[in-house]
Amino acid sequence: MLSEEEIDTLRNKSIESLSMSYSPYSKFRVGCAILTESGAIVQGANVENASYGAGVCAERATICTAVNQGHTRFKAIAIASDLKDEFITPCGICRQFIREFGKDTPIYMFKNGVEGTFHMTLSQLLPHSFGPEQLN
Ligand code: THU
Repeated sequence: MLSEEEIDTLRNKSIESLSMSYSPYSKFRVGCAILTESGAIVQGANVENASYGAGVCAERATICTAVNQGHTRFKAIAIASDLKDEFITPCGICRQFIREFGKDTPIYMFKNGVEGTFHMTLSQLLPHSFGPEQLN
């Protein structure tokens, strides 16, 4: 379980990460903040490309940064967008990418400028998933 303080930090950091988004094509900003087991916060955002399919979602961009910095154990992952009426949820590819590092990772979803959070575990968002255990 996360403390209220940790959830607040994830909210602030994921919303702050929206400013890092490079999204000139969709103009749809997504910010991500990962709380690692060691207590570090890693931030990132979506990075689009003129060859549209080459763009990378915020979650995957941020996980790559975390892993490249030596973090593979995540206490929680938070994402935010500018949507006011609904919470941003991770796309299917990102759900699988998150799955690699834990079946039960909590995902916190936020709106920019609107109170509240929606949270689910990765296995709720991606049931019956395929992961590294299957390859052992
Ligand atoms: N996007 C994310 O960054 N994360 C998601 O889970 C959903 C979609 C980005 C990809 C693209 O840059 C923009 O949102 C519109 O699809």
